[in-house]
Amino acid sequence: MLLHLSTWQEIEDLLRRSRTVVVPIGSNEQHGPTGLLGTDWLCPEIIAHEAHRRGDLLVAPTFNVGMAQHHLGFPGTIALRPSTFMLAIGDWVKSLAAHGFEKIYFLNGHGGNVATIEAAFSEIYAEASYAGRARGFSLKLKNWWDLKGVMSLAQRQFPAGHGSHATPSEIAITQWAYPDAIKAANYAPQIAPSGPIREAADFRARYPDGRMGSDPAQATPEKGGELVAQAVSSLLDDVRAFAGEEAP
Ligand code: NI
Repeated sequence: MLLHLSTWQEIEDLLRRSRTVVVPIGSNEQHGPTGLLGTDWLCPEIIAHEAHRRGDLLVAPTFNVGMAQHHLGFPGTIALRPSTFMLAIGDWVKSLAAHGFEKIYFLNGHGGNVATIEAAFSEIYAEASYAGRARGFSLKLKNWWDLKGVMSLAQRQFPAGHGSHATPSEIAITQWAYPDAIKAANYAPQIAPSGPIREAADFRARYPDGRMGSDPAQATPEKGGELVAQAVSSLLDDVRAFAGEEAP
């Protein structure tokens, strides 16, 4: 089920048999000369929505803005500072938990989100710990590329020039789902430079076209479809295992 296409009664009924929800989470930020600004939220959404078509899964609306301050040197990027992002995650989680969701699984599409999401989880758990009570729900973060078998497939598809930002794997997934939005460009250099991530001005100076270590010209919709199929199968297994975890 997709939460946003359900009624409150349907969610109330679902809660009688399942207490698990998947939240795609990402970022709206530049992805080089051919990557869509939505790449990092589209990838987890595409995978989660495809999983919902193939299995029994409730998917919440996509949390589509994240911690992307370093991309603010490029037009179209929208970013939350870490402190805002943490508070927003807390309110999302507490809204879902208030209605009875006990297993809240975030499928993430942006490496820059990881530290903040983990810190948000710690803040949420800390409230319960200081109060000396059980939280009543569990949180899990999984990056889509860390789903079983996905990174090894990407390494076979793109043995050189995968890189870490505007990667051919993430661009291939968006090409598979949105073939009408495929873009072309001449990349110079073919494989972008790699290095550290600091503030936005530093990022734009180091990575003038926005890519990091990648050659997105290798992306194809077919490769994207293979990645989605692998990710969907592993996501359904991973969510099933999380849903089945017993409280101590
Ligand atoms: Ni990305």
